Amino acid sequence: MCGIVGYVGDKQARDVVIEGLRRLEYRGYDSAGIALVHDGTIAGDKRAGKLANLEKAIAETPLPPSTTGIGHTRWATHGAPNDVNAHPHLGSTGRVAVVHNGIIENFARLRDELERAGHDLVSETDTEVAAHLLENEVLAGVDLTAAMQAVCRRLEGAFTLVAVDGQDPSRVVAARRNSPLVVGIGEGENFIGSDVAAFIEHTREALELGQDQVVTITRDGVEVSDFEGNAAEGRRYHVNWDLAAAEKDGYDWFMRKEIFEQPRAIGDALLGRHDENGLLQLDEVRISDDELRDIDKVIIIACGSSYYAAMVAKYAIEHWTRIPCEVELSHEFRYRDPILTRNTLVVAISQSGETADTLMAIRHAITQKARVLAICNTNGSTIPRESDAVIYTHAGPEIGVASTKGFLTQLVACYLLGLYLAQVRGTKYGDEIGAVVRELAMMPDRVQQVLDDSGAIYALAQRFKDAKSVLFLGRHAGFPVALEGALKLKELAYIHAEGFAAGELKHGPIALIEEGLPVFCVVPPRGRDQLHDKMISAIQEVRARGALTIVLAESDDTEVVPYADVLIPLPTVPTLLQPLVATIPMQLFACELATVMGHDVDQPRNLAKSVTVE
Ligand code: AGP
Repeated sequence: MCGIVGYVGDKQARDVVIEGLRRLEYRGYDSAGIALVHDGTIAGDKRAGKLANLEKAIAETPLPPSTTGIGHTRWATHGAPNDVNAHPHLGSTGRVAVVHNGIIENFARLRDELERAGHDLVSETDTEVAAHLLENEVLAGVDLTAAMQAVCRRLEGAFTLVAVDGQDPSRVVAARRNSPLVVGIGEGENFIGSDVAAFIEHTREALELGQDQVVTITRDGVEVSDFEGNAAEGRRYHVNWDLAAAEKDGYDWFMRKEIFEQPRAIGDALLGRHDENGLLQLDEVRISDDELRDIDKVIIIACGSSYYAAMVAKYAIEHWTRIPCEVELSHEFRYRDPILTRNTLVVAISQSGETADTLMAIRHAITQKARVLAICNTNGSTIPRESDAVIYTHAGPEIGVASTKGFLTQLVACYLLGLYLAQVRGTKYGDEIGAVVRELAMMPDRVQQVLDDSGAIYALAQRFKDAKSVLFLGRHAGFPVALEGALKLKELAYIHAEGFAAGELKHGPIALIEEGLPVFCVVPPRGRDQLHDKMISAIQEVRARGALTIVLAESDDTEVVPYADVLIPLPTVPTLLQPLVATIPMQLFACELATVMGHDVDQPRNLAKSVTVE
């Protein structure tokens, strides 16, 4: 997902913009650029590759002083990642510069119209079309704000546009539809960012923009309008993430820092959401208790790790509430013509709150009158803003592209939702709910215990650094854990990894087992003997065929010892909550193996932190 910074104020815009782009590097990108307003024109530079390439170019050919500017880190959608396709893009005369996040779906038709009118577009991007259209408007005599409103009325798709006019150093103008954008409000200066990390070292007062809005920032003010030019309002809020929270705190990777933050993150996800008797209060669930009592089906939609959190949630929600619960990949959901009514609760799980597949899926659900509840980590993002209700996971900034605390706090939020539904609908007695809440309240310590006992993982990573494939097995709530463990390994170590429901082995996958193949096995707690014993059988089956079994089981589970080449101890927790502890060793293994392999753990190849294109 692209990173965007805009600035107007008293400081040197070059410094503010470059530093802002550095804070946004985690979003994943493949080129970077900057444009400054100087002496009636635009001065700038843009380079493929990392931000350092741009900084090197600017050092060799310095940019002039300016207090108004924009910058961009691009994650390529239309056009290869190269200097020409990097943003900013200019119009024909070079008077207007624009950066963009998203996809302009009707750009081909607009490009054709511009070229027939004699415009020469040099890049493969959809963004350049916006630059030429904006410049046409400005050259016709309107200011940049009116130009932006006019152009946005013609664009289709998902876009955040931020532009400057070389002949008007007083303002930076931006617009958003279906794509993230926030304003930072300072003293005698104002900022624009694709997220708050772009400006929180300068200000923590932020303004969240709504759909189809244009914002004009000047040194002394912020004005919001709709695409027709009518005055509009954003939502002011205080950013409670300080810069330190987004730094590495001495860890080698953001991801490792975030793995070790999980005890605190789980505690924060629970904070203020239950009283000492275990009675839940989810104030942000702006769906009335009566409406929740009418719910006759839950459908959870998500992608990636969030989808695996949804799979765990299904077991919990159905067990506690007896409401049918379906789980669906967001990008599949709306194309299968799902059966939705006013009594369907669609739950959208998204750490970033900007995943286009999930955003489009909830929009479909809303048109079908379903009630939509978001489980999200990012305040001010699009998915919760468009949902009827939200449960924020309060994990704090998750910078590593591979989700860890984002995933675990999603599990906590899903458990809270399931228990809340059971409380409201009376399918569980207060003392039963209180017992689970008390178990949840102990999970920060349980997770800390797993982290403290994780020494064997580092040796494991060294041992398997040449592995070409790793399998993961689990049953019941351990099956989604196996899938998440495989995903972590794929996205970080770039090796083949696959998760299976252990009962599925004999239906084909067991043919994969060969001598020395590492197989992670998640063993359910012994309280559910049927599941526990069947999992031990599966471990025996793979071991008999030469697999190297890495067994995650309760630390006092002696039955597994004869079948474990490596034993990873887990604290004893209820079956439904075991994903909170069983996932940790897999996160650590993937992080350590990728580190041993010399990979960029925080920004794995080809991946972005939030996928804002479908
Ligand atoms: C998880 O490690 C990945 N980064 C990815 O699968 C992610 O979970 C998925 O893209 C969904 O993102 P979201 O939670 O922000 O919607």
